[in-house]
Amino acid sequence: MSHAGLIDRYRDRLPFALDDPVITLHEGSTPLVPAPALSERAGCEVWLKLEGANPTGSFKDRGMTCAVSDAVRGGAEAVICASTGNTAASLAAYAARAGIRGAVIVPEGKIATGKLAQALMHGARVIALRGNFDEALALVRELTQRHPIALVNSVNPFRLEGQKTAAFEVAEDMGPTRPIDALCIPVGNAGNVTAYWKGFCELGLRPRMLGFQAAGAAPLVLGRRVDRPETVASAIRIGNPARWEEAMAAVTGSAGAIEAVSDEQILDAYRFLAAREGVFCEPGSAASVAGLLAHGAGDAQRVVCVLTGHGLKDPQTALEQSGSVVPCEPTLDAVERAVLA
Ligand code: F0G
Repeated sequence: MSHAGLIDRYRDRLPFALDDPVITLHEGSTPLVPAPALSERAGCEVWLKLEGANPTGSFKDRGMTCAVSDAVRGGAEAVICASTGNTAASLAAYAARAGIRGAVIVPEGKIATGKLAQALMHGARVIALRGNFDEALALVRELTQRHPIALVNSVNPFRLEGQKTAAFEVAEDMGPTRPIDALCIPVGNAGNVTAYWKGFCELGLRPRMLGFQAAGAAPLVLGRRVDRPETVASAIRIGNPARWEEAMAAVTGSAGAIEAVSDEQILDAYRFLAAREGVFCEPGSAASVAGLLAHGAGDAQRVVCVLTGHGLKDPQTALEQSGSVVPCEPTLDAVERAVLA
């Protein structure tokens, strides 16, 4: 069945009436693919939820269709967010689609190239803050107190409403008789883990929520704010998550856990997924798989790892982590040698 986006697909479970304006790029309905090589390595049955298949290449589109539709319904002429990159790209696309202004505040020099290109191409005002994500979010929260600009970070409840639909899709794809036992998910600002848990709870399901943070940006693991978060996974380089309490409630309520994974473990999972599963995600997304491999999923037999963003978002890290090209003269001999070597 084809859908005109997730508001259309799940309107009965979302805060939108039939005659409300809908800003959509037909997001959602992403693939849930089995991962045989990973399953063997992890010792359980693993599926990958490919959120990079959303229109702007990340799960953010789920929340953004709802947040921007609500902003338009309320008469907003501009939307804004702080972002490590993906929210910025998604905001920019949906603002363009809606015909309203978009502004994004990103940490200078710390967002992946693809995300920056997206935000700029869609015509958002891109502000490079000489500071980190946490500072950007604090500033943008203050700014929106003063000016009539809609804040569409995941502090906006409509973002979570949209993102919870990924849990609905996982549940539908697995079928009612054999639900999943655990969900592995990267955690940054902690909106997504909160949203999945909300979605599963609405269905009466209770899979274990296993959230993973990068070791250099792991406030929820340490139980305290991290003032200078650092990780190769720029998407989740966050030291003071906005949805801190909600994320911990999801973990506690599901008998789950929040654990840290090193950059090395993240990059290992990143390369493994690309080379062995044919799935190219961005480093931040690979934290879910790195976490499963490093910490296991307890006695869970059926596990879904959420791959939150597409690998093309961050070509720089990909090139640094992969083999080099083979230079070749334009003769048959040379090509033969190059190919068969
Ligand atoms: N994975 C990717 C690819 C992300 O971009 C993010 C967050 C996360 C995971 C973590 O999700 O914040 O809900 O816990 N990116 C935000 C952004 C912060 O600005 O794009 P979360």
